[in-house]
Amino acid sequence: MNYLVTGGAGFLGTALSNRLAKQGHHVRVLDDCSAGNPVYLSPEVEFVQGDINEKTLLWKLLQDVDCVFHLAAKVSVPESSLFPSNYNLVNVSGTVTLMEAIRDTKVKRVVLTSSGAVYGRQDHTPYLESIEVHPETPYAVSKLSAEHYVRTIGAQAGVEAVCLRIFNAYGPGQRVPHSHPPIISNFLKHALTNGTIIIHGDGSQTRDYVYVDDVVNALVTSSTAVGVDQQVINIGSGVETSVLELVRLVRQVTGRKPEEVYNPLKSGGSDRMCASIAKAQEKLNYIPLVPLETGLRLTMERDPQFKKEIETKPLA
Ligand SMILES: NC(=O)c1ccc[n+]([C@@H]2O[C@H](COP(=O)([O-])OP(=O)(O)OC[C@H]3O[C@@H](n4cnc5c(N)ncnc54)[C@H](O)[C@@H]3O)[C@@H](O)[C@H]2O)c1
Repeated sequence: MNYLVTGGAGFLGTALSNRLAKQGHHVRVLDDCSAGNPVYLSPEVEFVQGDINEKTLLWKLLQDVDCVFHLAAKVSVPESSLFPSNYNLVNVSGTVTLMEAIRDTKVKRVVLTSSGAVYGRQDHTPYLESIEVHPETPYAVSKLSAEHYVRTIGAQAGVEAVCLRIFNAYGPGQRVPHSHPPIISNFLKHALTNGTIIIHGDGSQTRDYVYVDDVVNALVTSSTAVGVDQQVINIGSGVETSVLELVRLVRQVTGRKPEEVYNPLKSGGSDRMCASIAKAQEKLNYIPLVPLETGLRLTMERDPQFKKEIETKPLA
């Protein structure tokens, strides 16, 4: 098949594009490199640098494409509160521009990477796709808007539309920016360098951590599965893990003893988050294969930044 992966030079996009190329598909990536880096893409992947709002470029790239994976987005929740108009421009307008081009070039299917963040604060876990959503940040609003546009324009134009609400993905290749880094790569980095792990609140808040290969499995299946048009489907591990449990596992897999500091200020977001993956199991035959402890080990072994640390100071 012929695929276009927008945001394909990012964390999830690189893993997805490389998997598709390995399976023998033709993969074209569009990415503006604002956060991603194409050096990690397989040589078989055709890379084009450009912006998701460039309609003429999209037209060119979409010729003969069977399915689009739409991952291009700005992804920092705290940054979205500071610059909501930027998040609207890329995550919402960019999606609309892409959908117009998809409609006009008659692509058969689009798969959007939405987010578990759209649920906002909920009283009960696990989160079913059918519950009322309460997005609480501009990032969450932008992902929910993108879902609506993809499904609405898709339905009007006869383009099959699938929205995957991904929970906290992690794995090798995830960037660790200085401000607001993703929790798993941040904890691993500080544990391996004997730094300090900062725990916001009392550490009882929970998240659903899902390994990158499991997310890629779900994405790949979504591009050909039958009966998924117009569906919104959660992708997580289905396991609820507290920050304290995550710290314990990080200590266990690294064998290091990082200092722990408690910051009484909570970092924001829901106290508890966990995906119901029943719908993914039914519609995509999705079964998460990598438990958190294994995923942490794989991340350390396969991510060049952690591999370097382990080589200089081997694990106990
Ligand atoms: N990683 C997660 O835990 C997670 C969870 C839920 C949803 N998602 C969604 O999955 C997708 C990929 O996330 P990721 O973690 O790989 O993030 P990422 O930042 O690594 O990837 C996003 C990519 O989009 C590119 N991009 C940004 N603005 C662009 C623009 N204007 N034009 C073209 N490309 C642009 C960036 O350069 C980057 O390579 C995003 O849509 C994100 O919202 C991720």
